[in-house]
Amino acid sequence: MNSSQRNLVGAKTGSINERLQAAFKVRPGVTSIALALVMLSTAGIDGNTVVVDNAAVSSRSMLASEAGVAAMREGGNAVDAAVTTAFVLAVTYPSAGNLGGGGFAIIRTPEGDVYANDHRERAPGDASRDMFLDERGEYVADRALRSHLSSGVPGSVAGLLAIHERFGVLSREAVMSRAIELARDGFELPADIARQFMSRHERFHQIGSTRRVFYKDDGSFYQAGEVFKQPDLAATLARISTKGRDGFYTGETADLIVAEMTRGGGLISKEDLAGYEPAWREPIHGRYRGYDVHSMPPPSSGGVLVVQLLNMLEPFDLYELGFHTAPAMHLMIEVERRAYADRAVHLGDPDFYPVPLDRLLSKRYALSRIEEIGDTASNSDDIAAGSIPREPFETTHFSVIDAEGMAVAFTTTINGGYGSGIVVDGAGFLLNNEMDDFSAKPGTPNMFGLIGGEANAIEPGKRMLSSMTPTIVSKGDRFILITGSPGGSTIITTTLQVILNVIDHGFDLDEAVNAPRFHHQWQPNSVRFEAGIKEARMNALREMGHVNLQFLPEQFRIGDANSILKDRDSITATSDGRNQGGAAGF
Ligand code: DON
Repeated sequence: MNSSQRNLVGAKTGSINERLQAAFKVRPGVTSIALALVMLSTAGIDGNTVVVDNAAVSSRSMLASEAGVAAMREGGNAVDAAVTTAFVLAVTYPSAGNLGGGGFAIIRTPEGDVYANDHRERAPGDASRDMFLDERGEYVADRALRSHLSSGVPGSVAGLLAIHERFGVLSREAVMSRAIELARDGFELPADIARQFMSRHERFHQIGSTRRVFYKDDGSFYQAGEVFKQPDLAATLARISTKGRDGFYTGETADLIVAEMTRGGGLISKEDLAGYEPAWREPIHGRYRGYDVHSMPPPSSGGVLVVQLLNMLEPFDLYELGFHTAPAMHLMIEVERRAYADRAVHLGDPDFYPVPLDRLLSKRYALSRIEEIGDTASNSDDIAAGSIPREPFETTHFSVIDAEGMAVAFTTTINGGYGSGIVVDGAGFLLNNEMDDFSAKPGTPNMFGLIGGEANAIEPGKRMLSSMTPTIVSKGDRFILITGSPGGSTIITTTLQVILNVIDHGFDLDEAVNAPRFHHQWQPNSVRFEAGIKEARMNALREMGHVNLQFLPEQFRIGDANSILKDRDSITATSDGRNQGGAAGF
C-alpha cells in the first residue's frame, strides 16, 4: 500500500467510525457489554465442540467425522480424512453429501502451500441458453430444479479421486471402505434425517427409483433408530473403489446414469461423463489485518466476495463499533450490498468469461467502493423480489486438520436438499439440480434470489456460478482457521461472519460459529436476521434507512459452518449448533 492509500484508509477509518459512533452513541467500552449480550442470546445453540491435540474433523454427520478421524489414526493425512469423510457423507447425509453433485476443496499443506480443486458440475454438451424458458420466454422453475434437465454432469467422484491421488497416503480402498460398509450394512437413521425422508414423501413416492431408496418396500417410512441400508449405492461405491474414475464415468455406473437420462428426458451423455475433468485452480488470496485468507476462485463467487468484503471492512474498527451493534451491522450490510451487486455482473466460469479478478480483489477498488458509504442506508435498485428460498438449504461443509497441520476446507452440494430428487435407478445415488445456478434468464432470480447476466449464462461444458466458500485463514502455522458453510447465497456472509467473529471480535470458535447471523445480498433489498439478534437493533437500523428487515422464524437458520481453529495450544473443532452434525478428534 502506498502512502496516499494509507492516508485514505486512515481518513476513512477516522471519519466513518467517528460519524457512526457519534450518530449511535457507541462509546468506547461498549464492546464488552455487547459481547455479554451475544453470549446470552446464543444460549440454546451450542453444537458439538471438541478440543484436541492432534487432529480433527467437523462435519454435518458424526459418523462421517468419526470415519475421517479413524483414517488419520490409521496413518492417513488430512486429505485422506477429507476423502473418507466426503464418501461417508454421501451415505449418511443424502440430502447434500453426494456422488451425483459437485464441490470445491481448499487444501493447505504443512509447508503453507495452498491448492484449490474445482469439481463443480458442468452443463451437458447438449445444454442450451434458453433451456429453462417456456415458449413465452418465462423461467420454468420445475424444469430447472426438479427434472432430469436440472442436473449438471457430476464432478464429486472425479474431484475426490483427484485430491486423493495428489495428496493422499492411504489406498483408495482404505478411504472408501467405511462408506461402502455403511451403505451395505446400514446405520441407525438419525431422527433429523428420518424427518427429512418423511417430509419429502409426497414427491419422492412418485419417482420409483427414489422411492425404492428412501422408503421401505411397502412404501412405509424408516423410523429414527432403524437400520437404513443402501445396497445399490454400496455397489456403486465398490465399483469406484475397485476401478477408480472408470467405476463412475464409464462402464456400469455411466450406463445407469445415461439410462436414467433417457428415461426422464435428461441431457447427460456418455461423452459428457467420460470427458468430465476436475480443475486445479489458483486459490483466491487476500490479506486481512495481517492474516492470509485463502478461498475458492471462480467458478465460485465465494472467495472473491469474502476477500472483497474483508477489504472493504478492513479500514474500519469493528471491535470498537461492537458486535451486532446497529453501526456495525449497517456497515456490513452496505459492503454486502456492493459485493453482491458485483457478483451479479462480473462473476462466472473463468473458462468461459473474463472475470476481472485483479480489480475486484484490489484494496484500491475496495476503497473506491466504500467511498460513498455514509451513516444512512443506500438503496438497492428494486429489480425483482426474490424471497426466502423455497427449498431447504442442504449443501454441506466440513473441515479437517491433521497432526502435521495439513488442512482441508471442503464444501459439496447437489444444490437443493436431495438435489433434483431423482435417484439414478440401480445406482442408488441422487442427481444434482445445479443447472439452476446458471442465470436462466437475465434479471430473474434463481432459488436463492440471486440474479445474474451474461457471465453466468448457460453454455455447453460451462460450470455454473457458485457461492460455496471453503476458506482457510492463517498466520504462519500459529493460527489456522478452517471454515465455510452451506446456505446458497448466505454461504458467503456466513463465512465472513465466522472470520470476523474470530479475528475482529476475539470470540472462541464455538461462540463465533454459534452466534446469530444476518444476511444481505443487494437484491432483493432486504436484510434477514436470525432469532437472537436484539429487536432494538432493528429500530436503529430502520432509522438509518434500512428497509425490509426480516426476522427469520426460529426454525430457519442461516448456514451450518462446521469449522476448526488451530492455535498455538490446541485444536478446537466445532460442529454448528444449528444442525445435528458432529466434531471428533484425538
Ligand atoms: O453452489 C452454490 O452456490 C449452490 N448450489 C449451493 C447450494 C446450497 O448451499 C444449498 N443449501 N444449503
